[in-house]
Amino acid sequence: MSAAPGATPVTIDAGSAQVFAALLEARTGQRIAAGRSWRFDAALKPLLQSLGLDRVEQLTARLMERHDNALADRIVDSLLNQETSFFRDAGVIESAAKLVQEQPAPARVWCAACATGQEPLSLAMLFAEAGGAMPEIVATDVSAAAIARARAGSYSQFEIQRGLPIRRMMQWFESAPDNHWAAQPRLLSAISYRRHNLVVDPAPPGTFDLILCRNVLFYLAPHLREQVLERLAAALKPSGVLLLGAGETVIGQSEQLRPCRRARGFYERVNAPDDAERLYTTR
Ligand SMILES: C[S@@+](CC[C@H](N)C(=O)[O-])C[C@H]1O[C@@H](n2cnc3c(N)ncnc32)[C@H](O)[C@@H]1O
Repeated sequence: MSAAPGATPVTIDAGSAQVFAALLEARTGQRIAAGRSWRFDAALKPLLQSLGLDRVEQLTARLMERHDNALADRIVDSLLNQETSFFRDAGVIESAAKLVQEQPAPARVWCAACATGQEPLSLAMLFAEAGGAMPEIVATDVSAAAIARARAGSYSQFEIQRGLPIRRMMQWFESAPDNHWAAQPRLLSAISYRRHNLVVDPAPPGTFDLILCRNVLFYLAPHLREQVLERLAAALKPSGVLLLGAGETVIGQSEQLRPCRRARGFYERVNAPDDAERLYTTR
């Protein structure tokens, strides 16, 4: 990959690329396709700078010599794609919130692979604006750094402008130091954040009316994707629904899930009760 204009290029040697690809796969289930390890160069540059290192080989050597778990975490965090935004695919997020509001309280939502928290906060805003009981929102991600940022609820000017209308920014965020915007405590207190690896960890306790697991499954090997989908299906209430990313599907990948009969773009358990359909369509 060519470096950004003016930036000093960082190049990765084949041995380091192999070490980092293996580390990423062991910790997250994500497999970097052969020939795509060039992506590592740009991704690792800020970490190298913060450690005062010039070359990727020095980072690899430090990792191998010290068996440094915290450093391994930082490397994996640097390699993960944590792209997200407020109200990503806005129409579907609004439909998801409506489906939850139709459920008897206390409704429960699991926002898996939530990155830096824009997704659960978008739902919390919609729930708060609709009035009524605030559903419980559990938001998880494999990255400790992403979860720490999500929990803090503080966003840069660039992040706040991505997907969040000005009206909502003024209503739900307060100006904070360093040109940041802080989510109101009322929103943050509706969300419990925790670190969770979709590939190895059991689902958070209890079952859910809505599970969001968007824009992460396509990074996983097919057999891992199937296992994750089975776990998500088991974590749904009988009438619960699952939402994946726009390009993702359960079709051909799960025996436990099928397209939802009552809400386009969502998935439900294959044994979802028939009255779940009635429950929604009669309202
Ligand atoms: C592209 S972001 C998607 C964020 C959000 N769901 C959205 O659609 O805007 C993918 C997220 O998945 C997380 N992730 C990657 N592998 C994971 C795993 N095995 N378990 C849980 N989260 C994972 C990454 O840390 C990252 O925050």
